[in-house]
Amino acid sequence: MFNIDQLIDIVNKKVENIQYPAEPQRLYEPIRYILSIGGKRIRPVLMLMAYNLYKDDVESIINNAVALETYHNFTLLHDDLMDNSDVRRGNPCVHKKWDANTAILSGDTMLILAYKLFNAGVKNEKALADFIEATLGVCEGQQYDMDFETRNDVTESEYMEMIRQKTSLLLGYALKIGGVLAGADEEDARNLYEFGEKMGLAFQLQDDLLDVYGDPKLFKKKLGGDIVENKKTFLLINALQLANKDQKEELVQWIADKNANPDKKIAAVTHIYNSLQIDRLTQCKIEEMFSLSLKSLDKIKVDEEKKQELRAFANRLLGRKY
Ligand code: IPE
Ligand code: IPE
Ligand code: MG
Ligand code: MG
Ligand code: MG
Repeated sequence: MFNIDQLIDIVNKKVENIQYPAEPQRLYEPIRYILSIGGKRIRPVLMLMAYNLYKDDVESIINNAVALETYHNFTLLHDDLMDNSDVRRGNPCVHKKWDANTAILSGDTMLILAYKLFNAGVKNEKALADFIEATLGVCEGQQYDMDFETRNDVTESEYMEMIRQKTSLLLGYALKIGGVLAGADEEDARNLYEFGEKMGLAFQLQDDLLDVYGDPKLFKKKLGGDIVENKKTFLLINALQLANKDQKEELVQWIADKNANPDKKIAAVTHIYNSLQIDRLTQCKIEEMFSLSLKSLDKIKVDEEKKQELRAFANRLLGRKY
């Protein structure tokens, strides 16, 4: 059995060893760049861990696993453009280091390369169908995320559904595909999916919390981006719900002010979050989702000892700082 760090190493070695054509330089250089500046490699590691519950030859599915990482990195290039972000993994975003067209076309290329890698991996019709579902679903979630920027009446359940699509699907299917490729039965495959889905909800809630309350020295993205972009995060939705009349008016004003000074807006909105204890509320929801996820892990029919690594993974994620 492999531990988390060994699996991260296996993924990183494969990522480093992929050879991209030298030309056009401007197309492939940003791909090498985004894949070389870090990243937690959560999705491919989850796929390998799920596979490893049943089988030991994890390297046999490395192409399938790295396909998911390549896809994820494609979404980051486009997401950063859509979100007007400047910093990714502690480095300039591709559209900042180069330009928007570069992020679009190198991103498109990574999407195709992801399918190419998956096709070069272990062939399995069910796994391919899952890969298609996951990668399509993320785009649907991303569209809702954008739609919600211009709405102030987004409900918590609409938000949960949006993050299920943009983030959870990929974690759920990473685990499910790993299980399917190792021959897991349908019940285990479903529970693997559900474990990842609930963990993914916790993960995106954490992402939203860290975007406001992260430690700037550790976070590796620019704090406050969601506030500046009027993202309807769990934090903002609940603040709008819990605010008194004055606070609500102030929030709505900041949201409407297209020329707001970003730092002032971040400070003012964070101040309202603080007074409503939105951070505590979010932390509770995160913990609720994490413990829900572990219930699905409990149901998987493999020895408890084999599941320890996935439990450790969930625990490590719960304490993440970036
Ligand atoms: C960032 O994903 C996008 C979200 C779904 C929140 P990660 O937090 O997994 O980013 P990296 O790959 O580790 O940089
Ligand atoms: C992104 O959510 C989810 C993706 C599909 C990339 P965010 O927009 O919150 O992710 P970050 O904060 O930029 O990493
Ligand atoms: Mg973003
Ligand atoms: Mg986004
Ligand atoms: Mg975010």
